[in-house]
Amino acid sequence: MTLDLTPDQLLTTTRSVRKRLDLSRPIEPELLRECLEIAVQAPTGGNSQTWSFVVVTDPAKRQALGDIYRRGYAVYRQLTAPVAERALQDPQRGPQQKRVISSSDYLAEHFHEVPAMVIPCIRGRTDGKPAVEQAGTWGSILPAAWSFMLAARARGLGTVWTTIHLFFEQDAAQVLGIPYEKVMQTALIPVAHTIGTDFSPAKREPLDKIVHWEQW
Ligand SMILES: Cc1cc2nc3c(=O)[nH]c(=O)nc-3n(C[C@H](O)[C@H](O)[C@H](O)COP(=O)(O)O)c2cc1C
Repeated sequence: MTLDLTPDQLLTTTRSVRKRLDLSRPIEPELLRECLEIAVQAPTGGNSQTWSFVVVTDPAKRQALGDIYRRGYAVYRQLTAPVAERALQDPQRGPQQKRVISSSDYLAEHFHEVPAMVIPCIRGRTDGKPAVEQAGTWGSILPAAWSFMLAARARGLGTVWTTIHLFFEQDAAQVLGIPYEKVMQTALIPVAHTIGTDFSPAKREPLDKIVHWEQW
């Protein structure tokens, strides 16, 4: 069953869900398959379809990924501390920054409890490669990953794009048997039913600040 959302509502209310993930409710594998069937309708460079998706529901593996995520989160918090502090002091951005930190802390603490995790992967590694090659590789997986998240939202599932476990990508590769030399993990998407299904569009920078017509 899908939620009654127009395409525009779906596109503008697919939020990063952390505190409203229902950690007590398992997800039917069929529901995840449906979302993945939709995801693979996304484009890939040269129609290469060099993607793979690792779905993790096993509690021991989720615990291991949660531990890796928390290690990455500690590194991230340390690296971004000065920027976060500045944002917190800014009267405009302070309240939102506080909410994002509280929500991110919550996710890190409960990561292993999220009933399913999806890791979109792409064949090849971009380490040290020219931009044109990097764009082709990353661009062949990110649209599919976002489609997966949209399809999930349409079915009452919440997701959040995360990348922090990639500080320790090799450790996650070992946990999941991913051939690290040949296959790159691009994100780690926790998935759960949401607590309530109402989500709102987010406040963003005004378009005029970021859109350039005809020239920069
Ligand atoms: C490339 C990328 C990496 C992200 N990594 C993380 C992450 O590791 N952990 C996390 O909690 N959120 C992560 N996020 C989610 C952002 O923090 C989130 O999109 C932002 O707070 C805006 O919220 P919204 O998506 O609900 O509009 C990531 C988002 C993107 C696009």
